[in-house]
Amino acid sequence: MHHKVIIEPFRIKVVEQIRLTTEGERHQFLRDAHYNPFLLKSNQVIIDLRTDSGTSAMSAEQWAGVMRGDESYAGAVSWQRMEKAIQDLTGCPYVLPTHQGRAAEHLLYSRLGGPGKIFISNTHFDTTRANIEFSGATALDIAIPEARQPDLEHPFKGNMDTEKLDALIRQHGPEHIGAVILTVTNNSGGGQPVSMANAEEVARICRQHGVLFILDACRIAENAYFIQHREAAWSGHSYREIAQQMFRLADGCVMSAKKDALVNMGGFLALKDETLAVQCRTVLIITEGYATYGGLSGRDMEAIAIGLEEVFDADYLHYRIKSTGYLGEKLREMGVPLIWPIGGHAVYIDAKAFYPHIPVEEFPGQALVCELYLKAGIRSCEIGSVMFGKTDGEGKLIPAPMELVRLAIPRRVYTQSHIDYVIETFGELLRERDSAKGFRIVYEPPFLRHFTAHFEPT
Ligand code: F0G
Repeated sequence: MHHKVIIEPFRIKVVEQIRLTTEGERHQFLRDAHYNPFLLKSNQVIIDLRTDSGTSAMSAEQWAGVMRGDESYAGAVSWQRMEKAIQDLTGCPYVLPTHQGRAAEHLLYSRLGGPGKIFISNTHFDTTRANIEFSGATALDIAIPEARQPDLEHPFKGNMDTEKLDALIRQHGPEHIGAVILTVTNNSGGGQPVSMANAEEVARICRQHGVLFILDACRIAENAYFIQHREAAWSGHSYREIAQQMFRLADGCVMSAKKDALVNMGGFLALKDETLAVQCRTVLIITEGYATYGGLSGRDMEAIAIGLEEVFDADYLHYRIKSTGYLGEKLREMGVPLIWPIGGHAVYIDAKAFYPHIPVEEFPGQALVCELYLKAGIRSCEIGSVMFGKTDGEGKLIPAPMELVRLAIPRRVYTQSHIDYVIETFGELLRERDSAKGFRIVYEPPFLRHFTAHFEPT
């Protein structure tokens, strides 16, 4: 029999109590948090879709690995396991462990960056861009034009515009290019996948010009799922083989293990070039820790080695991609405007279209984030003018390109009934959409205001 219901391919062995708050309590909690869900305490939240990063549930095997963790300072057995798992997967002989993804970015981009250097990506993730700009270099995003049309059906909206890539390298000169970075899946572009054909073309152009090609691989298993199901040439290959092939195309990778390595903390940089690896390792030892642990405990490294195997399990990836798709498809059927097709780790709602009566200056994304919390205790994340908007000389808002709200799904944490509860909540928000109100900022710090800003309803 062919079942339509997707079941979680795991049983639950340990449970974590969720405190079921009332709507009245949540009004108070949100007022106390100045209408910024970032400032809520996690036990005031029922379903936390703030991020898929570091929020995975580990398996019984990973917890067993935690007990086996070897905490030796140098050459720990757990390090040997992690190093081998990464070498087998990426084909990179030089592996540098770090406490999370941005630390690996810092090692590499502080070395390759500096004033006058250009980095080119499908879309740089915030921390990637910040590390590059902090070095004095420039970060350019060149996703394909289809990526800017939220409604358009396209199998690989995460692809890089390779004609632009070639033109940019010629325009600036290969010697000024710090690196070309392909982010798979493209988080800031809606969690959309990148095709193997696109990665091959990026690799060819980089090789032709002698430019370094780096993968930001934190969701590469999810990306491999889309390639197997949408790119005919790869339908007969396993997810792991597809990921291995993509790694083979690049000169190295950075990975936040907090995503597709199914752990709560960790990351790494892996490289093929010995000279570059030695230079980065020097910074690693100064800033993160000795070369065989980076910022990690032995138990963390053990869990990463196991997570990198488990994430390519066909039943796991099927459940993962189908369950994210289930949320997105149900919301779309109900008339919730969103980025289509649904990516691997999150659903991105178009808040400007959801609340057309709220002007961009009053942050429709913030309005939706607050309504989701008040109605149901769901925490989500505004990715719009609160996060990326700027203020001009006259105090007028220069808005972000889109007003999005991200519902990111932690791995192996929530069941279908949790997701159905989210869907039901959107039904209520749709019915009451005309009465939602905008917000204004009453306090903001000079940088990264979305973390700590205070709001008031208008
Ligand atoms: N690259 C991408 C594509 C990411 O999504 C992230 C983190 C990083 C790098 C940095 O890794 O957090 O381990 O330092 N993304 C998280 C998110 C924070 O919520 O999307 P990190």
